[in-house]
Amino acid sequence: MSSKPQRLRVDQLLSRFGYCSRSEARAWLRRGRVLRGEEILDDPSERVLASEVLVDDQPVEFPDGLLVAFHKPAGYTCSHDPNDRPTIFEILPPRWTARNPVVSPVGRLDKDATGLLLLTDQGDLIHEWTSPRHHVPKLYEVTVDADLPKGLEALFASGTLVLEGETKPCLPARLEILGLRNARIELTEGRYHQVKRMFASQGCPVLGLHRTRIGALKLGDLAEGQWKPVSPDAIHPAS
Ligand code: URA
Repeated sequence: MSSKPQRLRVDQLLSRFGYCSRSEARAWLRRGRVLRGEEILDDPSERVLASEVLVDDQPVEFPDGLLVAFHKPAGYTCSHDPNDRPTIFEILPPRWTARNPVVSPVGRLDKDATGLLLLTDQGDLIHEWTSPRHHVPKLYEVTVDADLPKGLEALFASGTLVLEGETKPCLPARLEILGLRNARIELTEGRYHQVKRMFASQGCPVLGLHRTRIGALKLGDLAEGQWKPVSPDAIHPAS
């Protein structure tokens, strides 16, 4: 992962990885729930590596930082705000939201959108992959509610399309027409509702939006609602 594993106090470790608060840690340690090999760790101030610790006989999950690919189903928001329920965090392991830093999406998909979403607890990765300077390409499959107009590939590729309420044109986007009302579009930026707004600006409201690739990482056959660990190199192969 992106940073070198650090030794943490045992009470910090339990809170960092979402088991309990630092104040609850003493009780966990008293009950012998935390081990290093065969040794019971009972001193909250002892410094340990997460990768060498067992909690309730299980290794700490993602001890060096979490990065997963998730197949987002429709109907869930990518928000931590309980007012935005249902959220994807209701269908992900509860301990992920108790980790500190919390697990967050790298960019978002709309509530009705489906497909590949990256989740991580590493702020530097979120920054790197959502920063406008990095231009990580994302591929979407789109279904629209009207026949796609002629010349749309050239318009989207031109770098001249200005969305409503904005002054800066969208960066060139690669469009592949798959049918009268179906297309694939690759964007290298991530403005608010960008795909929907680009198609809507040409009289084609989006009915279905599905993301199939981020950088070099494909959704592949990951089933809806499922996740799998990935390495940062899978998104951005070292050149
Ligand atoms: N563009 C959109 O309009 N919605 C998304 O969820 C992603 C890209």
